[in-house]
Amino acid sequence: PKPCEVTPAIIMKTYACQRRTPLKHHNSFLTEPLEILAENAEFSENEGRSIAFRRSAAVLKALPHVVRAMDELKDLPCLGEHSLRVIKEILEDGTSSEVESTRQSEQFQAMKALTGVFGVGVRTADRWFREGLRSPLDLIHTGQKLNHAQQAGVQHYNDLNTPVTKKEAMVISDIVERAVKAVLPGAIIILTGGFRRGKEVGHDVDFLITHPEEGAEERLMPKIVNWLEEQGLLLYQKTTRNSYLESKDGPARPPSNMDRFERCFSIFKLEQSKMDSDTQVEASSYNSSTTDGPEERHSGSRWRAVRVDLVVSPYSQFAFATLGWTGSKLFERELRRWAGQEKGMSLSSHALYDSKQQRYLQANSEEEIFAHLGLEYIPPSERNA
Ligand code: CTP
Ligand code: MN
Ligand code: MN
Ligand code: MN
Repeated sequence: PKPCEVTPAIIMKTYACQRRTPLKHHNSFLTEPLEILAENAEFSENEGRSIAFRRSAAVLKALPHVVRAMDELKDLPCLGEHSLRVIKEILEDGTSSEVESTRQSEQFQAMKALTGVFGVGVRTADRWFREGLRSPLDLIHTGQKLNHAQQAGVQHYNDLNTPVTKKEAMVISDIVERAVKAVLPGAIIILTGGFRRGKEVGHDVDFLITHPEEGAEERLMPKIVNWLEEQGLLLYQKTTRNSYLESKDGPARPPSNMDRFERCFSIFKLEQSKMDSDTQVEASSYNSSTTDGPEERHSGSRWRAVRVDLVVSPYSQFAFATLGWTGSKLFERELRRWAGQEKGMSLSSHALYDSKQQRYLQANSEEEIFAHLGLEYIPPSERNA
């Protein structure tokens, strides 16, 4: 080794979309507690606070080493006073009292359980909490009025809170591919969301579908859904039509972060084979029952419920849709913030608008979008902010 080697300073960029964030990093012992506080802030609808904790955590995920002392953090962006206090406590004591009391709190646990029901958001969960409800079982016992999504969510609660494996995602990919190819030959289907970023498990499986012939993809979703329903593969589905086509202002900036693609939030019935559900998972329609109670589990029924999101995009918007649906959610948020604050541009899952030039910037690939934004290209596997 050279005599006077200096540790090079780490240059940590401010926006998560300027950095590479791998899936596996060195500081989970800090990021997980910070993300508990972020989640708790979401439960109290304190978005600003939640984002602050998530940004802090994301910076630590991008560090190439384990944090051991506070002075290693002094040149890092995004670390607010509160986050630093939590980090300091963990470095000194091994845990943070605030995080641990949050984890143990009745409110946090109830909100976690209630928002864990598919179809239940923070608002509804909070109302139920204030009415004294604590768990999905309480919803049944007190005879709460539930919409169709929530009914499916309660019915398949355990399955939907069991992480989806990559293997299961691959089986579902095959099914979705068969469905789409059957109703629109030549269509293109890609896996998006966490699995595209290299995650080993997910809370759902996300797909984006398009067709090289612009317009061929219109009203595609009902056909896909019909095909899947005929095969008995769906336990639940809610299709939303493309509101982008119909908006009279054309492709102006969508009002919120929600995009307007034709989409389907669904629950698949994934058939699992008898002997080894780990190595031989297969989906089919043999089982016609629609409950996933324990009785059935033990009486030889071999399927489980899996959340699947399907999105259809016109070919001209496919690059934007791909970027927008690959995540992570924080990475997406940071991309939009970068576009707006640093570039005077407006990015959505449909388009990129340049306010200075007053025109839309076209793109045929994610690489081109990063280039338009003046950003170094970050591949999906390093968007795990
Ligand atoms: N997304 C979106 N609009 C929604 C829901 C999701 O644009 N109404 C985008 C998110 O911004 C994210 C991607 O779709 O980029 C995937 O979202 P989601 O499935 O919730 O998260 P994942 O990153 O896939 O994580 P998980 O493994 O938990 O599913
Ligand atoms: Mn590393
Ligand atoms: Mn997902
Ligand atoms: Mn999803």
